[in-house]
Amino acid sequence: MKLTLSVIKADIGSIGGHIKPSQKLKDTVAGFVDEHGIKKGLLIDRYVSSTGDDIAILMTHQKGVSDDSVHKLAWDAFVAGTNVAKEQGLYGAGQDLLKDAFSGNIKGMGPAVAEMEIEERPNECFLFFAADKTDPGAYNLPFYLAFVDPMHCAGLILSPKMAEGFKFVIMDVEHTEGDRVIGLSAPQDLYDIASLLRDNQRFVIEHIYSNNTGEIAASISTTRLHNIAGKYTGKDDPVALVRVQGSFPATGEVLSPFSIGHFVAGFMRGSHTGPLMPVKANSPISYFDGPPVVSAQAFSVRNGKLTEPADAFDQPFWDWVRDQVSQKALDIRRQGFSGCAMLPYSELEYGGIVEKMKKLDGKFTVRKE
Ligand code: 13P
Ligand code: 13P
Ligand code: MG
Ligand code: MG
Repeated sequence: MKLTLSVIKADIGSIGGHIKPSQKLKDTVAGFVDEHGIKKGLLIDRYVSSTGDDIAILMTHQKGVSDDSVHKLAWDAFVAGTNVAKEQGLYGAGQDLLKDAFSGNIKGMGPAVAEMEIEERPNECFLFFAADKTDPGAYNLPFYLAFVDPMHCAGLILSPKMAEGFKFVIMDVEHTEGDRVIGLSAPQDLYDIASLLRDNQRFVIEHIYSNNTGEIAASISTTRLHNIAGKYTGKDDPVALVRVQGSFPATGEVLSPFSIGHFVAGFMRGSHTGPLMPVKANSPISYFDGPPVVSAQAFSVRNGKLTEPADAFDQPFWDWVRDQVSQKALDIRRQGFSGCAMLPYSELEYGGIVEKMKKLDGKFTVRKE
C-alpha cells in the first residue's frame, strides 16, 4: 500500500531555558493529535517524542506529502501546546510558530518538516532522526558517508541491491525566493556532491533516492529559521526520515557515521561550533546549551501501524562515543569566542554583533600615510 510518513517538529516552549519541553506540553500535543487526527481517521498512527527542547510528531497516513489537513493538524497541535507552554510559563512559548495563522502548508512557517510517500514493503523499517541546537547541514556528512562511502556502508560493495548507488537532491538554502535544487548521483558525481555538501550552511541534502529502484530513501527538513523570520529566532533543529535494509543501507550503516561526532553549527545561542552528540530519545540539553545533539529512533511499520521505537543510540557502544564527543566539546569550548569556535559573521548576521560592528565601524580611523 501507498503510505506517507510525515514528521513535523517545533520548539514551542521548554522548562528552565532551552532544555526540554514539559510532560504536560508533550501530553497536550499527543492528545490533540489523537483527538483530531487518529479519531477522525486522518492519520493511521502517530508517535510524539522530544529531543532537547523540540517536540516532534511522527505521523503515518495516506494523504501524500504536503497535505493541507495533515500540516494543519500539526500546526493546531503546536498551537494547543503553546497555550499550555504559556500557562506554565515555559521559556520560548510558541518560539517556532513564526506566522499568526496557518496558511495551507506548514513549510516556511517555522516548524521543520520531513516527509516521504512510499510503497510500504512487507518489512518496512526506517529511522527517525531529530537534532537540537544545530541546523539542517548537520546531516550532510553522516548521510553522505552512509549512502556513498563503503567505509561506513559495506552494502555498497556487498549488496547487489545497492550496486548503482544513490541520487542526492541538494538544496541551496540561501536562496529564499524559491526552492533551488540540484540532483546528483553517487558514485559518478561523488566529487560534485562533496564540493556542495562541505558547505553545511548553504547546501543541504533534501532527499536521497535509490538508483537501483528509484525508491525514496531519505527525506530531511531544510528549514532555516532566520531566512523566514529575518532575525535569529532559535536554531533550525532539523529532522530526517531514512529507510533502511533491503535496497537501502542497513540500520547500522546509517548509524555508523554518527560515531564521528563531527563539528556542526549551533550550540549556545545558535552561534558556535560544537560536536554532534548521538543521544537517547527524549534527552535534555545541558552544557553550554548543548552540545548539539541527535537522536535516532528505529521503527517498523505494517499497514501504517508503527511499532514502538527502538532507541538506536541507547546502547553501551554510544556511551563511549558520548564520552569522546564530550571531550571534543570541552576542547573547542576552551577557545571560547575565538576563530572557528564561534560561527562566522554571516551566520550571526541578525544578532547583536551587527549593531556592535556598526557602532565600532564609525570609530575606526584610516591613517593618512
Ligand atoms: P538483510 O537482512 O537485508 O540481508 O541485511 C543484512 C544486514 O542487515 C547486515 O547488517
Ligand atoms: P533552540 O533553537 O533549541 O531553542 O536554542 C536556542 C538557543 O539560543 C540556545 O542557546
Ligand atoms: Mg528553544
Ligand atoms: Mg531546539
